[in-house]
Amino acid sequence: MEDDGKKKREIENLVRELNYHCYRYYVLDDPVISDEEYDRLYRRLKELEEETGYVLPDSPTRRVGAPPLQKFEKVKHRDPMLSLDNAFSHEEVLEFDRRVKRHLGTDNEIEYTVEPKYDGLAIELTYRDGILTTASTRGDGFEGENVTQNIMTIKSVPLAINGPDTPSLIDIRGEVYMNIEDFEALNNEREGRGEPAFANPRNAAAGSVRQLDPSITAARTLHLVCYGASAPGKIPFSSQTGLINWLKRKRFPIPLIVRLCRGIEEVIKALQEIEEKRETFPFEADGAVVKVNDFDLQRRLGVKTREPRWAIAYKFPAHQGTTRILEIIPSVGRTGAITPVAMLEPVRIGGVTVSRSTLHNWDEVERKDIRIGDTVVVERAGDVIPHVIKVITDRRTGNEKRVTPPEFCPACGSRVVRPEGEVVVRCQRLDCPAQVRERIKHFASRNGMDIEGLGEKNVELLYSEGLIRHFTDIYKLRKEDLVSLPRFAEKSAENLITAIGRSKNTTLARLLYALGIIHVGEYASKLLARNFKEIEDLYHVRPEAIERIPQMGEKIARSVSDFFSDEENLKTLDELRELGLRVTNPDFDDSGKEEGALDGLTFVITGTLPLPRKEVEGMISRNGGHPASSVSRKTDYLVAGENPGAKIEKARSLGVKVISFEDLQKMIKGGSR
Ligand code: IVH
Repeated sequence: MEDDGKKKREIENLVRELNYHCYRYYVLDDPVISDEEYDRLYRRLKELEEETGYVLPDSPTRRVGAPPLQKFEKVKHRDPMLSLDNAFSHEEVLEFDRRVKRHLGTDNEIEYTVEPKYDGLAIELTYRDGILTTASTRGDGFEGENVTQNIMTIKSVPLAINGPDTPSLIDIRGEVYMNIEDFEALNNEREGRGEPAFANPRNAAAGSVRQLDPSITAARTLHLVCYGASAPGKIPFSSQTGLINWLKRKRFPIPLIVRLCRGIEEVIKALQEIEEKRETFPFEADGAVVKVNDFDLQRRLGVKTREPRWAIAYKFPAHQGTTRILEIIPSVGRTGAITPVAMLEPVRIGGVTVSRSTLHNWDEVERKDIRIGDTVVVERAGDVIPHVIKVITDRRTGNEKRVTPPEFCPACGSRVVRPEGEVVVRCQRLDCPAQVRERIKHFASRNGMDIEGLGEKNVELLYSEGLIRHFTDIYKLRKEDLVSLPRFAEKSAENLITAIGRSKNTTLARLLYALGIIHVGEYASKLLARNFKEIEDLYHVRPEAIERIPQMGEKIARSVSDFFSDEENLKTLDELRELGLRVTNPDFDDSGKEEGALDGLTFVITGTLPLPRKEVEGMISRNGGHPASSVSRKTDYLVAGENPGAKIEKARSLGVKVISFEDLQKMIKGGSR
């Protein structure tokens, strides 16, 4: 017994010690013991925990080993997680200051803080009696997803906080992000495995947190930064700087820079400082956040719909860089469209190396007079793929080469077509290798059949080996076919075969998307799946039957009808079924499915509503309705807010009913239609 007590004390000491070293290493970046020493202490703790079954709530061993979830539970935020209004110029920041003063009825200088705006994923950490109990994503601001297991794997997240100034219940707000270097390493690794690269560090962080299997999150290098808190009871700080100091004392990672500024002129200086320094930050900062420092003033200013009046995000201008075009190559997409792509001399723009940029279409190349050898300005804004803004003609030497649209497909050599008046140049040969490869990639992609491991590189390899020429070939692949290939080993071959097997159970919406029918994206696939129970119901479908579905236009209707009238396509679908594809349609699964209050109704929104438009559209969709953008005879209701536009006239002239946002809420709650 006494022995047991001794062991428990050792456990308590080890947990305290290990958590301290974790903090030194991951928050302060200033370790005081070697990795080996840390591992030794960790192993000792693990051993004692197993022996005694005594595992403290903040034991570092709890960070790993949680089993995968089936799905994320929902978590309601005690206080909604707000977003921020943006300012795109210093003038707009000055205007923000004037608004603040006007609202507070003062001419006195206001105290503000300025912090970098981390481009990551907003997270809320809830601590009860000092123990981290829940971590959740923002979601729609009111309700997010429970990602506790995943967030616990991030070593800079404190599992416990203590001290007399710790409220018994407190929510800490912050951002989970990935450093640019780790992001690039992750993408290299993914490309090597034939997996799609993440577009930017933010997507990589979000993708890593939203994993059902916490071991995947644990394998990614993620960071946390905290900048906010709210508690139902008394809080031990009364300003943003007070909060930051408190967070620091509680060992939370805080923003790299927090400037306290007296008056807006000092704010502008701090913005300039952060903008200058941002290239040296290890993370992507897309702006800086200006906050009224005093919490009493913040309370007096309050919140406007979804944004606080006491803060603003100053967005930095997009990242630009100058480089040279080495080559312009025609690239064939899955529909046969051939687009020009500029291969660039690699250049670092905002911490990311850029070596290619789409030039969109051949008309644009001509309009901007872009030539091989040109020096160009390339811009990378947010998550947008880099694009060429302009040519620096002063830098021309006379050796630049113009390009013209190809007359023959670069992949199969067939003559291309360019329909009169269209900007697209197309290869029309269905078995063109480039098109086939792109179609297969699309088929296997995440929103399609979701076959992990069948990305760009592996599709190219399997195609060049003659192993896949068609969707159906994917389901005929055997492990033996793969193991002898350069990019495969026993385990990776097995993984791919398993992933292919798993993809056989799919939904109609996914399959429709995966087929890559022209004009049928994710949304149209979902709409089709709502209206047709089985894929066979679409065989030989007439365009009119599709057009009857609200929101489906003539172009989609024709394309879907053409696709399902082609005997070769139908044969492929039948063959997929014979190969074991099992397609379910949850939209027609009547068991337990409640009828949506807005089933089959189409809504158009106009004017300012109490909630952002996207959210109202979400409300409509969740209840079975279809949000549409323009009023037509197919519209059932126009939801009109303040200052409605011309849509209201159009609705009246077509006899479409006009309702208020409150009417819509009543309909959802089960009122009359
Ligand atoms: S304060 C009331 N501070 O940017 C909202 N947000 O575009 C208070 N963000 O929702 C947010 N760095 O997810 C704040 N230093 C920082 C931030 C920051 C990044 C995120 C946050 C916010 C979004 C707004």
